[in-house]
Amino acid sequence: MIAQAGSVPAPEAPERGWSGPAEAHSAGLYVHFPWCVRLCTYCDFDRQASGFERIPRYVDAVCTEIRRQPRVPIHSVFFGGGTPSLMAAAQVRQILDAARERFALLPGAEVTLETNPDDTLGMDFPALRAAGVNRISMGVQSLDDRFLRLLGRRHDAAGARAAVARVRAGGIGNLNLDLMFGLPGQTLEDWRATLEGAIELEPDHCSCYLLTIDERVPLGRDVARGRLRLPDDEALAEQYELARTLLAEAGYEQYEISNWARPGHASRHNLTYWRDEPYLGVGAGAASSWGGRRYKNTPVVRRYLAAIDAGRQDLQECETVDWLTAAQDCIALGLRLREGLDLARFERRFGVALECLAGEELRLLRRAGVLEERDGRLRVADRHLLVTNEVLARLRIAMEGGSVRRRAPRST
Ligand SMILES: C[S@@+](CC[C@H](N)C(=O)[O-])C[C@H]1O[C@@H](n2cnc3c(N)ncnc32)[C@H](O)[C@@H]1O
Ligand code: SF4
Repeated sequence: MIAQAGSVPAPEAPERGWSGPAEAHSAGLYVHFPWCVRLCTYCDFDRQASGFERIPRYVDAVCTEIRRQPRVPIHSVFFGGGTPSLMAAAQVRQILDAARERFALLPGAEVTLETNPDDTLGMDFPALRAAGVNRISMGVQSLDDRFLRLLGRRHDAAGARAAVARVRAGGIGNLNLDLMFGLPGQTLEDWRATLEGAIELEPDHCSCYLLTIDERVPLGRDVARGRLRLPDDEALAEQYELARTLLAEAGYEQYEISNWARPGHASRHNLTYWRDEPYLGVGAGAASSWGGRRYKNTPVVRRYLAAIDAGRQDLQECETVDWLTAAQDCIALGLRLREGLDLARFERRFGVALECLAGEELRLLRRAGVLEERDGRLRVADRHLLVTNEVLARLRIAMEGGSVRRRAPRST
């Protein structure tokens, strides 16, 4: 149930028999910074490469928006973008100070700054550490210069390696590297070289994202016109399996479809989303899930600033989460996690066992070995991870009372 909205609607009463959003004693805080020096050829996030003169006003507006948030203990802060590493350390500090004034930032709160490798040259690490940043998430994408050029990245492989060294020398011990696979023309051996190179850099956490593009981005247009070719499904499955194997051998635990961490380094902030816990988002384009509603600020910086100045919130989307949507989302998010979906918690929260909601489909997926139950948790079996989205779509349709093709999805 998504409604276009120009201002904040009054919260609606939950449906009868539905006890409302998941119980939670703390929330995650997401801060969006929508500027990039240059737009990468594959990216369709809310970002822009102009209007940099508005940044100081934007930082002030984010602080104002923070002061209007509900007072809730915060377990993690994530500066995402765009390229938040373009902010001066003093601006990061200004935002974190506003957050500390408004919320109780819990002891040991994870505070992540998304960082482009080139920006590490000008970053004041002692000041960032003093401000509270304790985790860097670096967009490396590839350690092969051919692909970095194709992706329109500003850095080369040597630059990424030097950036990692700078983060380490700067005393920020908790480091994630983002990589992408399924790139046009990428072979298994190309991907192996990037994975091995990334593992040599010894990050604490590694995200491996399958490239997803459509014709709205330049790379997608080149693919659509036949100038570039994406690897086929079989090649993608091999690339994904290679990531699983090499990262496991190097001591990384896969805790989500696209995320691996050394023990104790799973991202607290990202777990907030997948465990369906509440989060507050501030800044243009930032999304929130709070009090049984999901809403997203306008991504248009000019409109965002005008709304904050006028004491309003300009929302692009606003959804009151009804019982069925909440149950479907809880399943979709829980099945992305390798720990799986806690079936008893699901039943407590929604007042009905999962079997009663998705009965026949669930039985079929279990019998086919696509879904497996262990210690009261339901999860997608290892060899079917790449078809997780199809599994989720089938469960969603079944829960809505629709019919699904009566056979198990293709295994990878
Ligand atoms: C929104 S970006 C911000 C990070 C930072 N600006 C950077 O690019 O280094 C976060 C991550 O999303 C991933 N990403 C962005 N666009 C993607 C796409 N089309 N397909 C798959 N992953 C993508 C990249 O790995 C990127 O590092
Ligand atoms: S991938 Fe990162 S740097 Fe590139 S356009 Fe997207 S947000 Fe900006």
